Amino acid sequence: GAIREYQFDVQMTNVTRLCSSKSIVTVNGQFPGPPVFAREGDFVVIRVVNHVPYNMSIHWHGVRQLRSGWADGPAYITQCPIQSGQSYVYKFTITGQRGTLWWHAHISWLRATVYGAIVILPKPGVPYPFPAPYKEVPVIFGEWWTADTEAVISQALQTGGGPNVSDAFTINGLPGPLYNCSAKDTFKLKVKPGKTYMLRIINAALNDELFFSIAGHPLTVVDVDAVYIKPITVDTILITPGQTTNVLLTTKPSYPGATYYMLAAPYSTARPGTFDNTTVAGILEYEDPTSPPPHAAFNKNLPALKPTLPQINDTSFVANYTAKLRSLATAEYPAAVPQEVDRRFFFTVGLGTHPCAVNGTCQGPTNSSRFAASVNNVSFVLPTTALLQSHFAGKSKGVYSSNFPAAPLVPFNYTGTPPNNTNVANGTKLVVLPYGASVELVLQGTSILGAESHPLHLHGFNFFVVGQGFGNFDPAKDPAKYNLVDPVERNTVGVPAAGWVAIRFRADNPGVWFMHCHLEVHVSWGLKMAWLVLDGDRPNEKLLPPPSDLPRC
Ligand code: C2O
Repeated sequence: GAIREYQFDVQMTNVTRLCSSKSIVTVNGQFPGPPVFAREGDFVVIRVVNHVPYNMSIHWHGVRQLRSGWADGPAYITQCPIQSGQSYVYKFTITGQRGTLWWHAHISWLRATVYGAIVILPKPGVPYPFPAPYKEVPVIFGEWWTADTEAVISQALQTGGGPNVSDAFTINGLPGPLYNCSAKDTFKLKVKPGKTYMLRIINAALNDELFFSIAGHPLTVVDVDAVYIKPITVDTILITPGQTTNVLLTTKPSYPGATYYMLAAPYSTARPGTFDNTTVAGILEYEDPTSPPPHAAFNKNLPALKPTLPQINDTSFVANYTAKLRSLATAEYPAAVPQEVDRRFFFTVGLGTHPCAVNGTCQGPTNSSRFAASVNNVSFVLPTTALLQSHFAGKSKGVYSSNFPAAPLVPFNYTGTPPNNTNVANGTKLVVLPYGASVELVLQGTSILGAESHPLHLHGFNFFVVGQGFGNFDPAKDPAKYNLVDPVERNTVGVPAAGWVAIRFRADNPGVWFMHCHLEVHVSWGLKMAWLVLDGDRPNEKLLPPPSDLPRC
C-alpha cells in the first residue's frame, strides 16, 4: 500500500450559523474537517498539532487498528490527551476495509465540531461489487449549538439534568433553508441527468439517530460501516450516530424541471413533541442543460419537492430497515461469522440514577436524582491516566479492575413496568478476553427512565449482528433464530428501546477497546465500558510497544 500523510492543525476558527458567530475548534480551519483519503492496505500517518486551549485526542472511528491500539484515540482509554501546544502522530494501516469511515475528537463534547470523513477506496485495480459511480460525495450530518458545547455539557453534569438540545442539524456543516436565517447555508448537490452518484453518508450528530430521504429518488444502500452489503433499495435510511452508509443515487434520465429536497430528521422514542423545526434540508439540483454554461444556478421558480419521512418514533420502520441489511457473503467478500462461541456476555444498557446511599455514600455531586447511564448497572468512570498504558506497563492497581460483570448481578424484568433496579454504581472495570476468543454479546435495552435506543459502538473490531428482537432476550428460544450465514457486519448497532441485539466477534486484536453508546449525552452519564484483549502467543498476535511521542497525562 501507499503512505498517506496528513497534518491536522487543531485551531480555533470563527464560524457563523443561524445569524450568530462563535469561535469553534476545527482542524485546519475547516468545518467539517478535511477528508482523509486512503485505499485499502495503505499506511496512514496523521500528525495532530494542538493549538487550542483544550486537551485533544482524535479517534479514527471504525478503523480496525490491528495491533495499533496506540493510534485509536479515545482519551484516557488508549492515550492521554494531546495537551495544548503538544502534538502526536497517529499511524495505522487500513486492513480489510473499504467504504466510508470517519474521524472525530474523542474527548468531552469536542466532536461537536471536530469531525470529518475517511474515504477508503478499494485496492488499486479492484472494482466495487456494484457499477462504478460517476461521482462520490461525502454527506455528513452534524448538530449545531449556538452556545458553546463544552459549556452545555459541563453545566448539565454539574446540575444533574439533561443538557440543552442543539439548535440545528446540519449537512456538511450547513443547517439549510428550513431554519431561520440559514437559507444561504444550504448544502447543494449539483447533479447531471442520467448518472449514478455515491453518497458517503456519515452521522456525526452528537445525540440523535436520523432518518434521511431525498424526494423522488430512491437510494440503493451498498455498504455500511465500510463493509459491502447485499444492495437494498429504499426511500429512507436510518443512520445512528457513529454509523456510515454508502448509497447509490441515480438521477432522472432527463432534466426534470424541479428541485428536490433531501431531509434528515431525528428518530427518537424518548423526545417529547415534534421536531419539525429541527429538520435539516439540503437541495438536489439538476444542472439545467437548456441554459448556457455555466448552467443556471438554483432557479427559485422551480417547484421544490419534499420527501416524507417516518414519524419521529417509528420504531417498526427502524426494525424493518435494519433487518434488511445483510453482508454480501460472497467468495471475494466472505462473512467470517464465528459459528462457535467461547465467551458469552449479557449486558443491559440503559439509563438509571445514582443512589444517594450506596455503602452510605452519595455518588452524585448533587443528589440522588442525578441522571446516570450504565452497562450492567456499572456507570463507567474514566481514569486520569490511560488504560492501555497502565495495562502495557503492568500497573493496573488503582487504575482499573478486571471484574466487569458478565451479566447483571441481579437479573430483573428488563423491559417491564414499573421499572426496577435503576440504581447504578460508579466503576472503572474491564472484561479481560484471551487472544482469539470468539465472543457473543447480547445487548439488552431496558425500559428504565424513558426507553430510548442506544447506538452501541465497539472500538477495534467489526462485529456481526446475528439477532435482534423486542422485549426481554430469551436465551432458550432466541438463539435458534440467529442468522449465522450473512448477518450485517459493522462497528455501531442500534440497541432497540426495550429490545435486544446479539452480536458476535473474534477477539483477534490485542489492546484495550472502548465500547459505548454513541449518543454523547449517554457517554457523559457513563454508558461505556472497555474490553482488554490479551496478547496471543505468536509474535504477530502481540500489541506493539507505544510510540515515543505518546502523550503523557
Ligand atoms: Cu465514534 Cu468511541 O467513537
